Amino acid sequence: MADMVIVDRDGTEHTVEGKTGVSVMETLRELDYGIAAICGGMCSCATCHIYVDDAWAGRLPAAQGDEKELLQELSGRKPNSRLSCQVPFTADLAGLKVVIAPDD
Ligand code: FES
Repeated sequence: MADMVIVDRDGTEHTVEGKTGVSVMETLRELDYGIAAICGGMCSCATCHIYVDDAWAGRLPAAQGDEKELLQELSGRKPNSRLSCQVPFTADLAGLKVVIAPDD
């Protein structure tokens, strides 16, 4: 476990223990203010859309293939958009800050 900082859709910041060794989505989906993650991490629904804080964006592996394509279709897409089911969370990312994107 390692801390993750999450900004919900109301702009409130929460510090929670993130699950390591799995995607960021696995932590977010369990929160009342989290995400729907309808496809369960299959990279097909985009209901796990987040914005990664600029200080952290460069420390994550870049989006690939299906994730890139799905992100292109989102009206709320920003340069720091990611699908949280495609972002692995590891102990060395302790303190990772993400913003839950509005429903698209
Ligand atoms: S959970 Fe569906 S795309 Fe990430």
